[in-house]
Amino acid sequence: MAGAGAAQSAAWSAGKVAAAFRARFGTGPAWLVRAPGRVNLIGEHTDYNEGFVLPMAIDRAVWIALRLRGDREVVAVSVDFAEEKTFGLDGLRHDGKGWWEYLKATAWALEEAGHRLAGWEGVLAGDVPIGAGLSSSAALEMAAARAFAAVSGLPWDPVAMAKLARRAENEWVGVGCGIMDPLIIGAGREGHATLVDCRSLEMRPAPLRPGTAVAVLDTSTRRELTGSAYNERRAQCEEAARALGVRALRDVTLADLDTRGGVLREVVRRRARHIVTENARTLAAAEAMEAEDAFQVGRLMNESHLSMRDDFEISTPALDAMVECARGEEGCYGARMTGGGFGGCVVALVDEATAPAFLEGVASRYRERTRLEPTLYLCHPEAGVSLARSAAE
Ligand code: GLA
Repeated sequence: MAGAGAAQSAAWSAGKVAAAFRARFGTGPAWLVRAPGRVNLIGEHTDYNEGFVLPMAIDRAVWIALRLRGDREVVAVSVDFAEEKTFGLDGLRHDGKGWWEYLKATAWALEEAGHRLAGWEGVLAGDVPIGAGLSSSAALEMAAARAFAAVSGLPWDPVAMAKLARRAENEWVGVGCGIMDPLIIGAGREGHATLVDCRSLEMRPAPLRPGTAVAVLDTSTRRELTGSAYNERRAQCEEAARALGVRALRDVTLADLDTRGGVLREVVRRRARHIVTENARTLAAAEAMEAEDAFQVGRLMNESHLSMRDDFEISTPALDAMVECARGEEGCYGARMTGGGFGGCVVALVDEATAPAFLEGVASRYRERTRLEPTLYLCHPEAGVSLARSAAE
C-alpha cells in the first residue's frame, strides 16, 4: 500500500517539475533528479560522536528537472517558493538565506574538492517538510550534488558526495551536523533502515519486519537548526571527549562514565550519558530488527526518547505530548522524537494492520491536548538519490 502510494506520488512529482521546466525553459528537461528525505529510527546526535545511527530514506523527496547550460551559470526556479535565482560558479558568495544557498553551498564544496562544474538551468520542487527533522536541507544538497555531477560528467559515489554535502552544511551553512543525513539520502535501501557506523561509514541494512509500519507524527512545531542549540550540544560532547581523553564519545562505555565521569561538569556528564547509552540502544535496535522483534525495537525507542528529554534536553512539550499520545494508542510498539530536536516530528513503530486507526487516535488526542493541528502519515523506506534521463527530452 505505502509502496504503491509512494510510486504514484513520485510519478506526480516528476511530472510536476518536468511540466514546470517546460513552461519556463520551452522544452522538456534532460535529467530528473530525486533525493529523498529521511527519518531516523534511533541513534540521535551520535553521528558527530563517531557512533551509530539507524535511519531510512523515505517516500518524500526533493526533485530537480534540469539541463546543461553552455556557461558557468546556474538558473534555478523553486516551484514551492515561486522564486527564480541565478548565480555564477565563479566567485561564489553568500547572498542572504534561502533555498538557493544550499545549491551554492554544494557547488562550493564540490569545487573545493577539485571538481570543475558546469552550469545548469532547472526547476526544483519537493514534499519534504522544512524544519521538521526529516532532513529537507540535506535532501536539497544531495539533489544539487546529483545535478552538478550529471551535467559535469562526474562519477557518482554516494559516500564521497555525502562527505561533501556535510562539508557544505558545516562550512557554508554553518551547522556542525554529522554525516547521517546526506549518507542515508545517498545510500538508502528500499524496504530497509540502515545501521551506519559513523566512524568507519560501514553500513548494514536492517529490514523492516513485514506487518510493521513507520509512522511520522509531525507536531507542526518547527525549529531553526542553524540556531545555537545544536552546535552547543556538539560542543558539550566534544568537551566530554576531551576531558575523558578519547577521540570521540564513541570510545566511552557506561562503566567508564561511572568511574571517570566525575571529571565532567554535571550538564556535560548528562550529555555524554545520552550519547553512550544511545549508541548501545542503536546497536541493540539493529539486532532486534534483524530478529524481527518489533517489541524490543519499540522499547529501545521509548528509552531513547527519555534520554533525549532528560539527559540531552532536545525535546519540547509538543514532542513529549506527541510521544505520549502515540504510546497511548493500540498497535504502537514505541515512539520517540526524531532528528535534531527542538520541534518537528516524532517517529513511531506501529502495527501495519491497525495503522489507520492509530493515526486517527493520535490526531484527536494530540489536538485535544495541545490545540495544535498535527500532520501524520506512514512512511515507506525508499532507495537513495536517483537520476533519470528524462523521457520528455
Ligand atoms: C541533524 C543533523 C544530523 C544528526 C541529527 C541528530 O539531523 O543534520 O547530522 O546529528 O540532527 O541525530
